[in-house]
Amino acid sequence: MAQKQRVFSGVQPTGKLHLGNYVGAIKQWADNQDAYDNIFCVVDLHAVTIPENVDPKQFRAKSLEVAALYLACGIDPDKSTVFLQSHVAEHSEMAWLLNCVTPLGWLYRMTQFKAKAGSNESVGTGLLDYPVLMAADILLYDTHRVPVGEDQKQHIEFTRDLAQRVNNMFPGADLVIPEPMIPPAGARVMGLDDPMVKMSKSIGETKKGHSIGLLDAPGTVKKAIMSAQTDSGNEARFDHAGPGVRNLLDLYEVLSGQGREAIEAEFHGQGYGKLKKALVEQVVAALEPVQTRYAELTGSPDYLLSILRQGAERARGIAATTQARLRDAMGFVAP
Ligand code: TYM
Repeated sequence: MAQKQRVFSGVQPTGKLHLGNYVGAIKQWADNQDAYDNIFCVVDLHAVTIPENVDPKQFRAKSLEVAALYLACGIDPDKSTVFLQSHVAEHSEMAWLLNCVTPLGWLYRMTQFKAKAGSNESVGTGLLDYPVLMAADILLYDTHRVPVGEDQKQHIEFTRDLAQRVNNMFPGADLVIPEPMIPPAGARVMGLDDPMVKMSKSIGETKKGHSIGLLDAPGTVKKAIMSAQTDSGNEARFDHAGPGVRNLLDLYEVLSGQGREAIEAEFHGQGYGKLKKALVEQVVAALEPVQTRYAELTGSPDYLLSILRQGAERARGIAATTQARLRDAMGFVAP
């Protein structure tokens, strides 16, 4: 039997994990687990790139919360390796080696850096360097596919370009060129309060009605969806709907698993209340098992830690092999 292709992905332990993170990323990780050799990382080193936002106590709890949510969303530790990025030192070393090969101009061009740095002159070097650490994450595992939402596309393109550059400069490095895996629906979930803005973990933390958190109670879910911004029409067709309604239709499509024609037949030409109510049901039904499993996991913290330790051990083995290959290709003396 041919060896399975490797999948790698991760979520930053910052802010409030939301439905966009679920349908854009974690759901597709869980749904495709049997087809790939999967590695899922809680990217805690990325979470300190804006150090002003780091509260050490909350950060520690958040890292474990995200790991528990991976499992609660259906990531099975027997099928997938789950670990914390900071537990595998190779990520930092790989980032250094890649840093030395990365043209600065490539980093200044990244849209997420421009958006996050804004005009803040005291912005940390880590924020500029963020894409290199992400490339290190991916390239360390000879990753073939990276399941992410649409907002990460530029980072994956950057990773591909960088891998190619390393391979050209240092024959023998043989870094695998990864492909993004972006879901056909749900790759860019928008804010319920403002469909022109992407649903975001940080906005969701402070602004009610913006996002649906994976741990939100059914009443909160209902309130957020029923008051989601739409328009004054009754257009519930995928190609013609306004952005707010389109967002609801997209979410309904992913969560119900129904085809677009059936969805349009059910909701087009009616008040949006029917679509909203049906979406509330879908979301509550999707989150209910996640929340039950999450509650069980928080009751057994030792189990979660043991999964993370085992995961880190396996990840270290793979990462060390790739690292040694790159070190050798670059001419470092073997230890
Ligand atoms: P992060 O933590 O911002 O988001 C985690 C995942 O959720 C997806 N996502 C969304 N999908 C649909 N609609 C949305 N509104 C939405 N918001 C977020 C993201 O695309 C992502 O897949 N840089 C990454 C973390 C990372 C990583 C990696 C990912 C670090 N190293 C290596 C893959 C491989 C990030 O900040 O994701």
